Amino acid sequence: MKLISKSGSASFKKDDTAAFFITEEDSRIISKILPEGFSYLYDSIDLSHFKGKSSEILFIPFKDKPDVILSGLGKKKDIASESLRNSSANITYLCREKSKSEVILVLPDFENFTSEQSLKYISEGAVLANYSFNKYITKKNDDDSPKDMLLKSIFFYTSARNSQKILDETLVICSNTLLCRDLINETSDKCDSVMIASEAKKLKLKGLTCSILGKKDLEKLNMGLILAVNKGSKIPPALVVMKYVGDPKNKKFTAFVGKGLTFDSGGMNLKPSGHMETMRMDMSGAAAILFAVKSIAELKLNVNVYGVMPLTENMLSNDSYRPGDIFKSYSGKTVEIGNTDAEGRLILADALAYTEKVLKPNFIIDLATLTGAVITTLGETVAAYLSTNEDLSEYIRISSEETGDKSWRLPFYPDFDDRMKSDIADISNVSSEKNAGTITGAVFLKSFITSTPWAHIDIAGTAWYSKKRGYRPKNATGYGVRLLTEIIRKI
Ligand code: BES
Ligand code: ZN
Ligand code: ZN
Repeated sequence: MKLISKSGSASFKKDDTAAFFITEEDSRIISKILPEGFSYLYDSIDLSHFKGKSSEILFIPFKDKPDVILSGLGKKKDIASESLRNSSANITYLCREKSKSEVILVLPDFENFTSEQSLKYISEGAVLANYSFNKYITKKNDDDSPKDMLLKSIFFYTSARNSQKILDETLVICSNTLLCRDLINETSDKCDSVMIASEAKKLKLKGLTCSILGKKDLEKLNMGLILAVNKGSKIPPALVVMKYVGDPKNKKFTAFVGKGLTFDSGGMNLKPSGHMETMRMDMSGAAAILFAVKSIAELKLNVNVYGVMPLTENMLSNDSYRPGDIFKSYSGKTVEIGNTDAEGRLILADALAYTEKVLKPNFIIDLATLTGAVITTLGETVAAYLSTNEDLSEYIRISSEETGDKSWRLPFYPDFDDRMKSDIADISNVSSEKNAGTITGAVFLKSFITSTPWAHIDIAGTAWYSKKRGYRPKNATGYGVRLLTEIIRKI
């Protein structure tokens, strides 16, 4: 896909498609809003039914003049970065429906945003809506074109300074978000630990290296928890460590750690029907980290990061680990298995302890589809984060705000710590009380970090949508790629 900046006064050819953003206030004075040369639109057509409401969209085709799209923005005072992304996403969706391969967006000036900001948000929404996971659909249109058309080029009339640079950045970060969706949507049959490790390994970018610890290495290192979860699987586990050095003089590193459960059957505590079908998405944390590190390297950001991905399946077999078993973690702590479906925290515990002890970063952030409880708490559109560090919490909060990858902080209070106690081991992987599952999951993880500032983001709801919402499609959303890329900039 191409994003191309245009400046000066907008001019169009007859085969073009021109798209305009219209607020509720401006919908009443459309003739003043559109550039000269578009009088054919309001002269020939009654536009009074178009009110400029957010999510309102109008397509007006012409034979020998440019087709016109009007996309509503709602009331001026309510316009936010997300309304800009969603409004431009609607233009993309409409163009795809009409099988257009190109569109020209004309950006207005906004009171509450600079031209640079509005170009960024509008271009993001346009790209993030230009996605379809259709590789397994064999049916084509009569002319052999694919069933689901995508835009090839999007042009932007903007007064923003450095506009092409802004668009180039959008394209890097958002293309990686789309690739992240592809990896998550891919079936577990293909997308296993071996495939994800090779996806990381094959990246050839300046400053980026990747090492893979295989089953033998994990045995040597005594990563008892990753190995326990992997016991029921035919496919070996892996711990992938990506390293990007963009600031060689600086010794400071931030580590991202992502849950990479390539399929979560629940194990002996087997998931019931209705809960297992989507569990190929349980590697969404790892996928977000892979593509965030790739974005950071492609943008050549002046930072140092690790991307750590513990990878395995959680399967049911004669060899599966059992409820009641006890395993020794990499950290030395023993863990009683209260429930084999609470496996994410086990593989993360080993990965986090290893990250702190061996990689010694200054900050650790983990991203995980850890608990169904987070969906009960915050729904599908907001992730939960918990942190032992105020600075890190603030970086997450403001980066969430900036990117629209929404999140909300949950508390650690000392009384939660007691709930993970075991009578026969150092700690249990499940809580003695049923409620507050997202917090107690995080409490378990916390006990494997000694002193490094750390935050945990539970993305079980946000990584995968049960329906399309704005610029995010049904199924994999790519949540976290933009958030982590922004966090690293803030840090
Ligand atoms: N992968 C699941 C969490 C999940 C649920 C992700 C729904 C996406 C959608 C996780 O491994 C899990 O099964 N968690 C259990 C923990 C419980 C056994 C303590 C849960 O949330 O029920
Ligand atoms: Zn599970
Ligand atoms: Zn899981």
